Amino acid sequence: MQEESIITNYHLEDDQMMDNTIRPESIDEYIGQEDVKENIRIFVEAAKMRNEPLDHVLLYGPPGLGKTTLAFIIAHELGTNIKTASGPSIEKSGDLAAILSSLEPGDVLFIDEIHRMPRYIEEILYPAMEDFSLDIIVGSEGNSRNIKIDLPPFTLVGATTRAGDLSAPLRDRFGITSKLQFYTVEELTDIIKRTARVLGVEIEEEAARELATRSRGTPRIANRLFKRVRDFALVKGNGVVDLPITKEALERLKVDEMGLDNTDHELLLAIIEKFNGGPVGIEALSSSIGEEVTTIEDVYEPYLLQTGLLKRTSRGRMATDKAYQVLGIERQ
Ligand SMILES: Nc1ncnc2c1ncn2[C@@H]1O[C@H](COP(=O)(O)OP(=O)(O)O)[C@@H](O)[C@H]1O
Ligand SMILES: [Mg+2]
Repeated sequence: MQEESIITNYHLEDDQMMDNTIRPESIDEYIGQEDVKENIRIFVEAAKMRNEPLDHVLLYGPPGLGKTTLAFIIAHELGTNIKTASGPSIEKSGDLAAILSSLEPGDVLFIDEIHRMPRYIEEILYPAMEDFSLDIIVGSEGNSRNIKIDLPPFTLVGATTRAGDLSAPLRDRFGITSKLQFYTVEELTDIIKRTARVLGVEIEEEAARELATRSRGTPRIANRLFKRVRDFALVKGNGVVDLPITKEALERLKVDEMGLDNTDHELLLAIIEKFNGGPVGIEALSSSIGEEVTTIEDVYEPYLLQTGLLKRTSRGRMATDKAYQVLGIERQ
């Protein structure tokens, strides 16, 4: 594996701290995703008018597009509390039962990475989502019985990078399903300007735009790049983020004009050079570049597909003409 990538290493610790200060709190501050926002506005308003909990919401899309942010915004707009959990951290049925029985009427329960929840735990969610009831087994073996506990009405907000990995019965129990899209350069420019404002940093319009074009359509990456460029501006300049500083910093961070990083290049190069342009199966590609299949599928591929550098066929992945162009390689 090659060096850490600022683009795709989505476990950077400093993100979390930054997230708390710059994360938009209300739906009006949330930039882009107009269709998703419009639906949520209407459903939230209707739920409030009926004095009922909002229907369960499933948010899906690649990492960094604003799923967690939106879950918090939904609770904010409903005027309720939010409790959070993540799929892989719920290991025992008792864990989920404890979370569910701690909910107050109308609360939002946010389960991140919901596709990674074990199947036997998923089954506890079905009656909870459908009838707000919890079916649990009490007592020891040979002397156990089922009891049913009423839960307060609540809204489950699930987030996932892979909606396809959710079981059908779970997927069917979400009344509202929203797919988040990559952001446009204009939207990302606004997000970067907003972040700069919140952090009290001056940024020039062209610099914000340059960062936006190199952020892979992803707010998390935009904010992360902004933060690095801000450090540059502070040390090398007078603190103002301008275009020359931005370009220099991005060069050092090895982010190319399209926002592609080393791994993107390596992935496309492997398809072109080792597999003659493809099609190549995901497993072969994965071992060839030393990245996990799921990382390729969840993190790299969506953007390469979106920008038309990669094509998925029934026989595997193929590099497109555009990929050859961008990498400056003649097709044989
Ligand atoms: N629509 C948006 N407007 C402004 N900032 C956003 C938006 N979506 C995401 N962000 C910012 O991007 C970062 C990543 O968003 P997050 O909700 O954690 O993504 P996800 O949960 O989909 O991985 C957060 O710091 C958040 O502030
Ligand atoms: Mg998240």
